[in-house]
Amino acid sequence: MENSLLSPFILPDGQCDGPVLVTGAGGCIGAWVVAILSASNIAVIAADLSDNRHRLELVMGKDAAEQVRWATCDVTDYEAVLGLAKKHQIEAIIHLAGLQVPFCAADPALGARVNVEGTINILQTAKDMGITRTAYASSVAALALPPGGPFKETLYGVYKMANEQSAFVFWADWQVPSIGLRPNVVYGVARDQGISSKNTLAIEAAVKKEPFIIPYTGNYSWLYAGEAAAAFIAAVSQRGEGASVFNLNGQCETIEAAIEIITSLAPDADIRCEGTPFPFPPDLDEAPVRFQLPEYPAISVTDGITATFNAFSALHETGTL
Ligand SMILES: NC(=O)c1ccc[n+]([C@@H]2O[C@H](COP(=O)([O-])OP(=O)(O)OC[C@H]3O[C@@H](n4cnc5c(N)ncnc54)[C@H](O)[C@@H]3O)[C@@H](O)[C@H]2O)c1
Repeated sequence: MENSLLSPFILPDGQCDGPVLVTGAGGCIGAWVVAILSASNIAVIAADLSDNRHRLELVMGKDAAEQVRWATCDVTDYEAVLGLAKKHQIEAIIHLAGLQVPFCAADPALGARVNVEGTINILQTAKDMGITRTAYASSVAALALPPGGPFKETLYGVYKMANEQSAFVFWADWQVPSIGLRPNVVYGVARDQGISSKNTLAIEAAVKKEPFIIPYTGNYSWLYAGEAAAAFIAAVSQRGEGASVFNLNGQCETIEAAIEIITSLAPDADIRCEGTPFPFPPDLDEAPVRFQLPEYPAISVTDGITATFNAFSALHETGTL
């Protein structure tokens, strides 16, 4: 049966060759990347610290998730990453494994190992195997660096900036190409952790008929998870050249307008917002990424919220939310 969540993102035959190694496959964006590649019949190796397929099941269903080729692999273990890539003759890498802002703040050394050393291990694997299609997740948090600008500096942002600069040196010194994508606020099914997950949790609360307060107001970035995943796939669809980095913004819309969309879907919902705007720019220019990458879908806020609400409703009915 066709999965309506995935259908806007299915790739035409020949668009992207596998096998594609996806690190952080158990996370939100990873689950979407693995689901889209699998539904497009592109060979994929999903890798994460554990074989927890919960988010993958939310996006692609339990039966399809069970069919995915999965490997447990810690990205801080270089031999393990290289061994995995060799074993499956990997042709492209989408590197999403990482620890988000609160986890880096709670354990800075672990954050550096996973986010920085882990990315070095991916670039080194690409170098050793001659892989020319590698994309990795940076973040808009890197825009806060160097310190003293308008945005809040975090260790997470420092690590992401280090990755962008490492990628530059891997290209300049060894011609290892890569594309870094800096997602802004990702929302959608499977987005359940991190400081910017509150808008998704609000949609879930509306489905469950629970009250919810989003702790931000005003303009916000709405980057649908499927769209973010499609951008990562587009980034590894063609042979790389250089070490480019692009912002991924999605749509800019106010939290207040989004609450109206949610309320139109669930008239009894008690969703409110309070506080100041989210402390990162909500409206980064996407022209450079859209110019550089093969075409991928742009999802409107209305369509993204509606798809998320409908998927959460179906999951709630079956008791799997
Ligand atoms: N979600 C967003 O809004 C957003 C925004 C900007 C950047 N990003 C970046 O995109 C990437 C994916 O984000 P997400 O929302 O899917 O994150 P997530 O937290 O949902 O998933 C991250 C995954 O990485 C895995 N992981 C952690 N340590 C690991 C290790 N040592 N080895 C292997 N896997 C490990 C975790 O188990 C988890 O499944 C991350 O690098 C994140 O920093 C996300």
